Amino acid sequence: MEDISSYVQKNKERFIGELIELLRIPSVSADPAFSQDVLNTAEAVKESLLQAGCDHAEVCDTPGYPIVYGEKTVDAALPTVLVYGHYDVQPPDPVELWESGPFDPVVKTTEIHPEGAIFARGACDDKGQMYMHVKALEYMVKNNTLPCNVKFMIEGEEEVGSESLEWFIKRNQEKLKNDVILISDTGMISNSQPSITTGLRGLSYVEVEVTGPNRDLHSGLYGGAVANPINVLTKMIASLHDENNHITVPGFYDKVEEISAEERAEMAKAPFSIEKYRNALNIDEVYGEKGYTTSERSSIRPTLDVNGIWGGYIGKGAKTVIPAKAYAKISMRLVPDQDWVEITELFKKHFESIAPQGVKVEVKPHHGGQAYVTPIDNIGYQAASKAYNDTFGIIPIPQRSGGSIPIISLFEKELKSKTILMGFGLDTDAIHSPNEHFGIFNYLKGIETIPLFYKYFTELYNSDSRL
Ligand code: BES
Ligand code: MN
Ligand code: MN
Repeated sequence: MEDISSYVQKNKERFIGELIELLRIPSVSADPAFSQDVLNTAEAVKESLLQAGCDHAEVCDTPGYPIVYGEKTVDAALPTVLVYGHYDVQPPDPVELWESGPFDPVVKTTEIHPEGAIFARGACDDKGQMYMHVKALEYMVKNNTLPCNVKFMIEGEEEVGSESLEWFIKRNQEKLKNDVILISDTGMISNSQPSITTGLRGLSYVEVEVTGPNRDLHSGLYGGAVANPINVLTKMIASLHDENNHITVPGFYDKVEEISAEERAEMAKAPFSIEKYRNALNIDEVYGEKGYTTSERSSIRPTLDVNGIWGGYIGKGAKTVIPAKAYAKISMRLVPDQDWVEITELFKKHFESIAPQGVKVEVKPHHGGQAYVTPIDNIGYQAASKAYNDTFGIIPIPQRSGGSIPIISLFEKELKSKTILMGFGLDTDAIHSPNEHFGIFNYLKGIETIPLFYKYFTELYNSDSRL
């Protein structure tokens, strides 16, 4: 039997080459212009699963983009790991800020990735991290070391709200039956200090529309005499935070889980340099809710941010106009035990109530999801911890992340199993930004660590069930 690290070393170039081919397909789920590419990516993922040794793999139709399902059964008496990932990616915009084409992957070294990183949209989020699982399976099947059963569920709408996945899960409970869900779609602290994500924030995403007069008006003739929807919208948005950067929506904090001083002290032990953080972003100071640290603000506290705002004249030169309408996209990151449907309602009610006379305000909810926390006393977490310890030589730190994978809370509800988040990306990998990349070190370490998760999970599962 060949050990995983020598298998990875021997096949390294091929692993990188295969991922690069997958990254060439622009599977942007948000933009219908790419729909054929999204479908082609699903086919490519299915083929890769068959090649890696799945007994069976299929592209399952849904009302939206398909879900790639694959499985390899070793023995029905053994536990089953369900791997989730996504093959869709964020739009590459703004394209002019990329140093190489977003779908023309290149390998370059960086300060943080001296061994090189693959630059492309989706390199880290999530094609690269998803593909680690495919290659880990290849190794285990080839070397006859797969210790349990495995199922794959790779979706194509994660970046746009996972609507079809919800549809799929509700109809395929039996097919998706599992003992633990394993996901690599998050990050870790650094390559010398791995961490396991134990929490993700929930999300409520809304669009707001402010309507003033029935047409765009001459700003000289009407300015100062009728409400300008952009002036009004920006004032309304500004009022959503108070002087301490608390969110002013009534009831917003009512259900927020209060974290004990002990737990906060424990969390504060994770290595974090405010200086490096500022330098990496080229900002002179951080900003946020009074009474909380930067790490807390971006993990255990809820937030409200404008993601986009538009209206009026934004073309070349100047045009003197009072626009008829103004718009904004607003997202709220939520923490346990806020309910995203309730928060969306509270926001809608409040935002409509603060509209001054002279305008109409409409709040349109988009999508959302609940926050998620993984307890660290379950065998899935322990197996992951042992696996990282073996490959990195250091025990990983449990850490909550600020990002969201809203569908996870639904996994728990519908499939009744816990999710383990074994992420290998770094915060500096620029996911959703221009020049997204994924370290070769991280990619290969992921491939080496995953088989150990299977091994330890199966061992712990067996000793647990003998009790
Ligand atoms: N993989 C990310 C989420 C993530 C990244 C969590 C890094 C933790 C660390 C996922 O693809 C994502 O981008 N989720 C969206 C939500 C979705 C509904 C669009 C997010 O967090 O904005
Ligand atoms: Mn992702
Ligand atoms: Mn993403």
